[in-house]
Order: sequence, then structure tokens, then C-alpha cells
Amino acid sequence: MGPIMELARKHNIPVIEDCAQAFMAKANGQFVGTFGTISCFSTQQGKHMTTGEGGLVVTNDDALARRCFLLINKAWGYGDAKPDHYFAALNYRMCELQSAVALAQLEKTRIRCRRRVKAANKLTKMLAGIGGIKTPPVAAGDVHTYWKYCLTVDGSLLKDGAVGLAGKLKERGIASAPRYIQKPSFMCEVFQKRRTFGNSGYPFNLARPEAVDYDKAKFPMTWKALEDVLVLPWNELYTDEHIQYISDSIRECVEALR
Ligand SMILES: Cc1ncc(COP(=O)(O)O)c(C=O)c1O
Repeated sequence: MGPIMELARKHNIPVIEDCAQAFMAKANGQFVGTFGTISCFSTQQGKHMTTGEGGLVVTNDDALARRCFLLINKAWGYGDAKPDHYFAALNYRMCELQSAVALAQLEKTRIRCRRRVKAANKLTKMLAGIGGIKTPPVAAGDVHTYWKYCLTVDGSLLKDGAVGLAGKLKERGIASAPRYIQKPSFMCEVFQKRRTFGNSGYPFNLARPEAVDYDKAKFPMTWKALEDVLVLPWNELYTDEHIQYISDSIRECVEALR
């Protein structure tokens, strides 16, 4: 976040933080979601805390908070003396029931994240020194709260790389996802063919062409990262026994593939 914020300040660009998978995470000692102008957290069903679907927007800018309040609810000025639909807006409000669930979950999320970190740190320690895989790197001052536990697999050392390791782990009842996603979003039709509003191509047609050039060759590290990653589901209820089983299984599967 340091270099991003520095660049943004230099050019006066607002930063929107995508913290969908990063509840309670810290970068350089500071909570993520507190760096940018606006931050977004997802409470979709699989996240650290959930409201079934939905999410949270965080800002300490009162004017933007007011704008968000209006934007998600048809821009109708609820509570105003002369309310109106002030501008074209969405109907994306969270219902009362979901909001109540979100509030009740906030405190649990703190504990849940602590447990996730504790369990993940144990696994990281146990996996130290196994050739062919790398555990998630966490710099001093950072806190990773492990929505998932991502291994990096060296395909030049292990037969069939992340896919091979996932196959072996599956035989032991351990689920994992090689590649995480099949392709980056910029390779999907919406970006590649600009399938947006009718045939308008909006908003891509407003951008500088080089800003919307999604040529595959321009993103070699994205492809490399997808090729090497193996995503293990993570859970605050993992016991020491679970961690030991996962660790032993990874060690043995890696040895079998090396
Ligand atoms: C990194 C990231 N950003 C954004 C989203 C979108 O969140 P939502 O589904 O709540 O809109 C997700 C959801 O999976 C995500 O993982």
C-alpha cells in the first residue's frame, strides 16, 4: 500500500481499496481499508464474515459517505425535508435482516481472524523448508488473515506443478484449487469483446485505447501467478490435528512428486 498511496498522492488520484478478502488484515501495522479514500469489504457467503450476500463500504469522508448512502438506495433523500431522486442511482441496499447479521458478526470476525492466523502460522512453520513449494509470504508489520491459504508451487521441481499436487491431495481428502480462477477477468468476453450496454461498448469506448488494451502478452506475471498458485480452503475451526494432517499430507505428496 505504501507505494500505491505515494503514487496516488503525487497524482491526486483517489484510491479505492478492495478488501473483499482481507478483514482485519494489516499492511505495515495499519489496518487495510484505512489507507484509501473508500474501501470495500465483501460479506458474500464465503468470506470471513457473511450476510449471505452483500458488502460494506468504509470511508472517513462524510461527503462520500453521504454519496454512498444515496447511491445504494435510488438516490432518494431519506430523512431530508424535501426528498427527491437526486441522480440516477442503484437499488442495492442491504436489508435490515442482513445488516443485523453483519453487526452481530463484527465481533466474531475479530476472534475468527485471530484463530485463522494462529492456525495458518502453525501450518507455515510445519511446511518450512519443503523444496518445491513456498508458503504465503508475510512481511514484518503485516497481518495476513487467511481467507484462503495459498501455496506457490514450483512446476519445474514438482511433476505437473500445482495441478499435480492438487490431485495428490485430493486422494487424501484435502480439497484445493490450482490456478484459483481459470482465467483473469480481463480475458473474459465482457472485456475482450466489450460486451456491456447493448452494442455501445460503454465505458471502454471512453478510455484511452492503451488503458483498455487487455492483450494477454502484457500481463505475464498474472499468468505465472495463476499457474503456480494452489489455494487451500481455510477455516477458523481447524484443530491441531487437522493442521498436522494437512502438513503431513502436503509433505508426503510433494515428496512423491519431486
Ligand atoms: C478480491 C475480491 N474483490 C471483490 C469481490 C466481490 O465481492 P462481492 O461478491 O461481495 O461483490 C470478491 C468476491 O469474491 C473478491 O474476492
